[in-house]
Amino acid sequence: MGSRSVEDRALATHRQGTGEPRSSHVRNPLALIVAGPQSGASELARLLDGHQHIAVAPRMGWLTTMPDDREAVGPDGMIRPALLQRIVDPRGDEPLSADELGATLTTSYADFVSSMFDRHAAGRGKPLAVADAVGMAPDLLRLAALWPQTRAIHLIRDGRELAHAAIDPAWAARHMPALGSWAGDPVATSALWWEFHVRCAREAGILLGPERYREIRFEELARSPHAVCSALCAFLGVPFDEAMVRVPRPDHHVDRSPPLSSADVARWEAVAGDLLDELGYARRAPRAAQTARAAEPRDGFDGRPLPAAAPRPPAGRTLWLTGLPSAGKSTVARLVERQLRKRGRNVEVLDGDVVRRNLSQGLGFSKEDRDTNIRRIAYVADLLSRNGVIVIVAAISPYRAVRDEARALIGERFIEVHVHAPVSVCASRDVKGLYAKARAGEIAHLTGVSDPYEPPTHPEVVLNTEHQTPESSAATLLHHLDPRTFP
Ligand code: ADX
Repeated sequence: MGSRSVEDRALATHRQGTGEPRSSHVRNPLALIVAGPQSGASELARLLDGHQHIAVAPRMGWLTTMPDDREAVGPDGMIRPALLQRIVDPRGDEPLSADELGATLTTSYADFVSSMFDRHAAGRGKPLAVADAVGMAPDLLRLAALWPQTRAIHLIRDGRELAHAAIDPAWAARHMPALGSWAGDPVATSALWWEFHVRCAREAGILLGPERYREIRFEELARSPHAVCSALCAFLGVPFDEAMVRVPRPDHHVDRSPPLSSADVARWEAVAGDLLDELGYARRAPRAAQTARAAEPRDGFDGRPLPAAAPRPPAGRTLWLTGLPSAGKSTVARLVERQLRKRGRNVEVLDGDVVRRNLSQGLGFSKEDRDTNIRRIAYVADLLSRNGVIVIVAAISPYRAVRDEARALIGERFIEVHVHAPVSVCASRDVKGLYAKARAGEIAHLTGVSDPYEPPTHPEVVLNTEHQTPESSAATLLHHLDPRTFP
């Protein structure tokens, strides 16, 4: 085709100086980089910036907020004098001086911002500018509407790779909006936040069409920067420049944060697994562990900051005591309960016998009924412990798989405690006469005698009640829960 490339036209205009109106050349920004924090956008920016004609401008956080400020931008889209003061505010991102800004004062906000990008690029001796729009996915359409030719490069990264940072309260406080659920449920919030941003950008992408919207994957960029960069150049209408990939990759600081625990992965995937599937990222947790309750944090989430972060509640826990009948679960549970109450903590005991009289009334002792019973207990334990309550479950809970479901549901607040004593010892205690009844043939399916008990494989705590007194078992548990208060 005989038509000049975007870049040629831009270069021509660049040589002529930055006179306006600029009808014949491409308007800056040439493109927006859209991504979430920690998605590798700085690596993408570095590669693009390596192009001889492209300068990536530093992030201007006010880009999307300024048009809402009526003193800065009028309802007609024209800039007002206050805009300049806002932007030269020393706390702002933009290093230009008021004089320079005054000189660029044109008419519409779109023109004004365009000329800022022109200036930035010109300052680097390049014609084209790319905007860093990290975190601005929810406003992508709005930005795209300002500059009808500007393209969007959406950088997507597997959200589980950034979740460990997001669930660190200090990191979240610095980089994330103050969503109320960070404190109570950081894992689900991180998943929702990631999903929301990826979906916002993708939905905008449908409207922008393939001419203006392109997705790239961080993983692929890291693996084959050459191929990704040349495809990007084609998308941007500029020739590929070897210089992009010639600059050696700087030694990035190695991320030493621990990966998500398997319970956190299960929870994360329960929330945002559908999008992982859509994007073709393999799941890591067994689906059975990904329970439906992940819908709850979603109800309160719209991706926008809430007026104020909720105060952090005291850390709730679920101490899950499992073991044979008469192993000592209820006894230990009551002792721990008393000690914690003395210290002013909110405690609830969910004892199998009591639960079976109300919440699980009518259930028997088949595997199905026991599993149902345990799921109900886990559901309540989760609700309570999310709200700062220390829950002590005392239930035989003989089946490993459903205990693991409880673990996946409750996540890091779950502490599995194996209350262990040999069946002969439990039978000799026979607190409720169950073993005698089983011997007499009056009850069938007694756990440990005529029904299975699957001991935990990786309990957080094992209490050996054959050799330990109930008081010392309770002390072990309290110490595990809170070593400073219970040395
Ligand atoms: S679980 O298996 O579903 O976890 P859970 O701890 O709630 O059991 O209830 C166990 C209580 O049910 C025992 O303490 C006992 O009082 C009563 N029970 C009656 N029959 C049985 C049985 N066959 N096996 C175990 N517990 C039984």
